[in-house]
Amino acid sequence: MDTTHWTHWRSQFPILERANYLNSCSLGALSRRSVERLSRFQEDWHTHGASAWYEIWLGRLAELRGRVGGLLGAGDDEVAFSASVSAALSVIGSAIDYRHRPRVVCAELDFPTIGYQWMARPDVEVVLVPSDDGATIDLDRWADAVDERTAAMATSHVFFTTGATQDLKSLAGIARRAGALFIVDAYQSAGQLPVDLRGDDVDVLIAGPLKWLLGGPGLAYTTVRRELVTELRPTITGWFGAADQFDFDITRHQFKDDARRFELGTPALPTVHTALGGQEIIDEIGVAAIRQRNQELTERLIERAGDAGFRFRMAPDPEARSAIVMIAAADPGDAVRHLGQAGIIVDARPGHVRVSPHFYNTSAEIDQVVDELARWRDG
Ligand SMILES: Cc1ncc(COP(=O)(O)O)c(C=O)c1O
Repeated sequence: MDTTHWTHWRSQFPILERANYLNSCSLGALSRRSVERLSRFQEDWHTHGASAWYEIWLGRLAELRGRVGGLLGAGDDEVAFSASVSAALSVIGSAIDYRHRPRVVCAELDFPTIGYQWMARPDVEVVLVPSDDGATIDLDRWADAVDERTAAMATSHVFFTTGATQDLKSLAGIARRAGALFIVDAYQSAGQLPVDLRGDDVDVLIAGPLKWLLGGPGLAYTTVRRELVTELRPTITGWFGAADQFDFDITRHQFKDDARRFELGTPALPTVHTALGGQEIIDEIGVAAIRQRNQELTERLIERAGDAGFRFRMAPDPEARSAIVMIAAADPGDAVRHLGQAGIIVDARPGHVRVSPHFYNTSAEIDQVVDELARWRDG
């Protein structure tokens, strides 16, 4: 492990001087770069007022669009900004024709907002693919659930409560053979694992800066394969999606012919700035190096905690794991409080303590959380 390199990056994140921060899958740490970007935004606002839109902020949006496209394997014309993953899913869900295909297939391990998009629609039946082991979903189960009645398959790249990754290429094959749209929620993978809209043969891939991309709340990214963009006509829309946005003509409506047609209204500019700070760091380190570093930290955590007698809910294959580690605990809320008193920030989910390190954490921090968790259990 090249510790000098990681020590340099670590110094970007003030929270690490105050706490053992192991909850990046809830909220990535705030970097000095993001803080600098945010103060520049405030200064530009003080100096230029609304003129900053044209002189500066549209440029920042373009910069972020380019960086996000680079990260997710999409061209600039394939990236749209949304307010949240939920908003992104609603817009995409509104563009699908369910008349001959009334089903959407999701996994029972997916984040609820994925299923809710379609459960709220009277014209759609949601099919939930079951997990046999509580941590992963078998590809055969997906293949059994998806058929000619399926309009879309919508699922996570990484499951938020198990950390297990799904094989997107194989899932894409299943969707493709059934003629269904393949929608991926990559919120828990972008920034910690390679994600590639085209390479993974995904139709719509949604991510955002909140977690592993270190950019804070208020924004999500919708990427759509170019060939599909004009086929999808949303029925939830706004002026940012309109072709002649700045004509301000309410008498006619036409969509943009790139992915910006999936945008609604004014994006959260403070988040655009914090997201740029985080994205710069991710781009400079590179996702491949982050993945390797996170695997080292994660496997150390699993080994140490396993030696201390803890059990996990996780993918059996180490390559299918990510940096979200679910450690079984009788009273996870109490464990999280105990760890909090020791300066360790983790999270609780039913039956488990959720520990999610990122590249900026150290082996010593991993060992500390295991020791403290054992002290709590044995205390
Ligand atoms: C995988 C996944 N998808 C979606 C969401 C919710 O996203 P949003 O609040 O942006 O709708 C979360 C939140 O943590 C998540 O983990």
